[in-house]
Amino acid sequence: MSIRVKGLISFCEFTLLMVKRVPMNFKGSNILSIDQYERQDMVTIFSLAAFMECYAQRKKRTRVLEGALLGNIFFEPSTRTRVSFETAFYRLGGSVFNIADKTGTSMVKGESLEDTARVLGGYADVLVVRHPKEGSVKRCADVSSSPVINAGDGSGEHPTQALLDLYTIMKESGRSLDQIDGLSIAFVGDLKHGRTVHSLAKLLSLFKNIHFILISPNPLVMPQEIIQQLQSRGHTLEECRDLASGIGKADVIYMTRIQQERFSNPEDAERYRGCYCLNKGLYEKQVGSKNVPIMHPLPRDSRPGALEIDQDLDDHPNLAIFRQANNGVPVRMALFALVLDVADIFSRT
Ligand code: NCD
Repeated sequence: MSIRVKGLISFCEFTLLMVKRVPMNFKGSNILSIDQYERQDMVTIFSLAAFMECYAQRKKRTRVLEGALLGNIFFEPSTRTRVSFETAFYRLGGSVFNIADKTGTSMVKGESLEDTARVLGGYADVLVVRHPKEGSVKRCADVSSSPVINAGDGSGEHPTQALLDLYTIMKESGRSLDQIDGLSIAFVGDLKHGRTVHSLAKLLSLFKNIHFILISPNPLVMPQEIIQQLQSRGHTLEECRDLASGIGKADVIYMTRIQQERFSNPEDAERYRGCYCLNKGLYEKQVGSKNVPIMHPLPRDSRPGALEIDQDLDDHPNLAIFRQANNGVPVRMALFALVLDVADIFSRT
């Protein structure tokens, strides 16, 4: 395990993984929602992700997925998610075909999403799918002969982002999985449409005594069913409208972009753009010298009047956003290795 990730997984958790080998439930499985996971699964995923770091950085090489093909299918814009899935697959020695736009497919001739998934699932060993409509990635999984990974379905979920986010929280704050219990996290911005916060809230709810500080404009609050899920698992929540008062108690600050593309009238989004701007002055006043990572799934909206995270924080050591994006590669490598059943090879090296 590389030095940078030492301590991420406790010795007991690591030993358990090595003796247990890879649990069956990953092999050939879809990754559609955080609801399919248990806390113990994080030991498997993050131990393997930690192993993958040196391969992601090309300090070591592997061809373990040589001959395997990823179908990377994005019906919505993406920079990091699409390219990090692609990078992860290449780093494991596999090959990738990309579809980055519906207009280049036979869907413009009237072909259904299901038929598209049937055909592409027949070519590839695994599909990664992003789609603007909630539930549509599951529709692909229901008919595909290859496993399907959800890279974001409308306002629904973004499970692999949540996994890399939790991995980032552990690395940035030096917490092991057991030390996630008791964490206090501020989610800021468009909590109604933001699929990354939906998935991360569900993932954190697998731990104990999490305190969620939900900072959003009134019309953009976290969906009720997620709030109920968090409450039913014994976590505490506070909802507030004000960034300054909310972030002072947080161990982690998770900023999000106003999801303009999800509004029925995109002009309505203008009213909220720029409503929360974290800048150096505010961060230093509320957080002081504590190590409180600033996270964001990215892209941050850098247009004038938006700026969820001001560029005056760019050199701040607690700004984790680019390290967070980098963590997407080893975490997605781990997921591919588990789903395509080559993870055991790494536990023997
Ligand atoms: C997010 C997404 O697409 O949901 N980005 C990402 O995957 N890293 C967040 C966003 O677009 O605001």
